[in-house]
Amino acid sequence: MSSENFGHNDVISQILFTEDQIDNCIFELAKMINIDYQGKNPIFIGVLKGVFIFMADLLRKIEISCDVDFLAISNYSIDARNRGVVRLVKDLDIPIEGRHVLFIEDVIDTGLTLNYLLRNLRERLPASLEVCTLFNKPSHRLIDIPIRYKGFELPDKFIVGYGLDFNEKYRNLPYVGVIKTEVLHPVNNSFKLKQGL
Ligand code: IMP
Ligand code: MG
Repeated sequence: MSSENFGHNDVISQILFTEDQIDNCIFELAKMINIDYQGKNPIFIGVLKGVFIFMADLLRKIEISCDVDFLAISNYSIDARNRGVVRLVKDLDIPIEGRHVLFIEDVIDTGLTLNYLLRNLRERLPASLEVCTLFNKPSHRLIDIPIRYKGFELPDKFIVGYGLDFNEKYRNLPYVGVIKTEVLHPVNNSFKLKQGL
């Protein structure tokens, strides 16, 4: 196989959610959001980059008037991240004061990043601030954050696909799968060589 290609079997040990399952789940989330936010002209806010595919699919099922905006963050050191400190590298374009904000996440793991960002957004005095996540990984949660709309519960595994990456790779997989342990923690560099990394 060329270094430009990878087959599922090379990196994925198990498919957790298929394209169809993800689509149905998003349809159900959108149905609730369409009802709850009717007449409220909400702003959907996502954090780049992991959320871009979920946001795109969710928005196309939203039938009410809404805006969309993105934040981009970069984690400082592991230590800073463990303290829940992130650096905003792109702020919102739209002011949110007095607006109904729905914060869209791809996956919530420890909750530290989300907690930091929610505090930041709350200071801007939105009319309301709720969270919608496609994937919820409760096993590592350090901070209890109320999540209004939840898609799938995840086991304690590192997943990729549907926007989620490992070292910036595999975001393009249309499904979500568990990455093989030997890819996550290579015992030698044969996999990297194969991928041209
Ligand atoms: P936390 O909730 O602050 O721990 O961080 C959540 C962020 O970690 C997510 O937005 C993802 O970028 C990343 N993340 C957590 N779990 C996974 C996973 O299983 N696959 C890919 N990225 C993940
Ligand atoms: Mg994310």
